[in-house]
Amino acid sequence: MTVTSTAVVLAAGVGSRMKSNKSKVLHRLAGRALLQYPVLAAQGAGCSRIVVVASPANRADVVRCLEELQDEVAASALIVVEQSKPLGSGNAALAAVEALQDGPVVVLNGDAPLIQADDLKRLIGEFDASKRDLALLTCRLNEPRGYGRIVRDSSGQIACVREQKDLRADEEQLNEVNAGMYCASAAFFRQHLPTLQNNNAQSEYYITDLIERAASARGVVAVAGDALSLQGVNDREQLFALEQLLFERISSRHRKAGVTIETAASIDDRVVFGTDTIVRAGVSLRGRTRVGSGVVIDVGCVVTDTVIEDGVSLKPYSVLDDSIVHAGAIVGPFAHLRPKSVLGPDSKVGNFVEVKASTLATGAKVNHLAYVGDAEIGEHSNIGAGTIFCNYDGYSKERTVVGNHVFVGSDSQLVAPVRIGDGSFVATGTTVTEDVPPNSLVVSRGRQTTKVGYADGLRKKLQAKAAAKKHAK
Ligand code: UD1
Ligand code: MG
Repeated sequence: MTVTSTAVVLAAGVGSRMKSNKSKVLHRLAGRALLQYPVLAAQGAGCSRIVVVASPANRADVVRCLEELQDEVAASALIVVEQSKPLGSGNAALAAVEALQDGPVVVLNGDAPLIQADDLKRLIGEFDASKRDLALLTCRLNEPRGYGRIVRDSSGQIACVREQKDLRADEEQLNEVNAGMYCASAAFFRQHLPTLQNNNAQSEYYITDLIERAASARGVVAVAGDALSLQGVNDREQLFALEQLLFERISSRHRKAGVTIETAASIDDRVVFGTDTIVRAGVSLRGRTRVGSGVVIDVGCVVTDTVIEDGVSLKPYSVLDDSIVHAGAIVGPFAHLRPKSVLGPDSKVGNFVEVKASTLATGAKVNHLAYVGDAEIGEHSNIGAGTIFCNYDGYSKERTVVGNHVFVGSDSQLVAPVRIGDGSFVATGTTVTEDVPPNSLVVSRGRQTTKVGYADGLRKKLQAKAAAKKHAK
């Protein structure tokens, strides 16, 4: 099989059916822009040069979207060209002609996110073996409406592709559709793209007119693909439907590799796992989240761009963003880790605790109802219920450093900047405003006074006051 040199991804369309200010190919599903999927499939199929056709309006965003792929696709393999006006898919492909290398070229719609490298490999392989002018991927759909249909002649040979809006009455029922993925030689594209006409229902230059050109020369080969892989996104219903299919595909990939995933978990394409991890229902794992082995992520957790090491337990409904949770830590239920939080090994952040840009060392615990912002908490220190790290005076943020083996009693406030030395105790209800040396006890609350028998008199006084007020009305 010849290795193809070039792929062209068409991404300059207006996408009017999305009813969006954003270009269609930049809408995201399963954590990636639509456009990234065909680009990755082309690379997986061995294309060493990938030309992306952008529009003047979306070019800058397309470039940014491709930069996100820097770990996956070499920047030198990507070329962005511009179609100056959205005159149709044939005109978009024409914009790429000068960037083609000799040899086979695959042209792909940029709006088909389920396409897989294997589909493209088959397309290229069959093109090569057939010695015809063009190969295209097709599939049969129960609801073919909206797609270009494969029209065959009386001997069963492909005659042309007819777009939905140009269909003749007797062609409506045709359910073999064009997936929008083609393979032909660079020479064929160079010869035919410049002479396409736009005399059709949409007054557009259709790339699909190349099928008739090839049919009347050395012929066309149709490569039948899986309907689940070839569908395109033209509106938000399809965006939703294909994202569900992608989530299924991604979960199935991880299940095969040893992860238990309950239904209704949504896992982005770039998330990675170790083995024997359990992901319960309603969990959303987003972006570049990395999860280790033996982890339990319980119902309703939302985890974005976070590293979760082995043996961690995320209890229900915890939200973690851009953080690191080291081995054996326990988080939640209902905990919130905001960006740049680092939880040390075997540490614990419990219910209704918010942590922001803070580090907990090994075995540190913040179990209930606390706010920890811009802080360092040392090994095995315990932060009591209701403690607030007061990190903001309305103008600037300051840091708090709590040493090792410190005990902070419930309902305390640590007013930053402040440091608490190793082994100290902060008594319950204390407001710490000055540094505390190691091995100290700090108390700032008033002393308790108890007046025995005083309550009856107090009650009478209060009742009399209330009665006088009522009488005065
Ligand atoms: C296209 C095919 C149709 C096929 C379907 C598969 C044509 C004429 N029709 O229809 O036969 O069944 O895909 O999903 O190609 N684009 C540009 N510039 C333009 C117009 C489009 O770059 O001026 C790009 C779009 O961004 C998109 C692709 O070309 O990635 C296809 O365009 P779209 O408008 O989605 O065509 P469909 O109507 O889906
Ligand atoms: Mg489309």
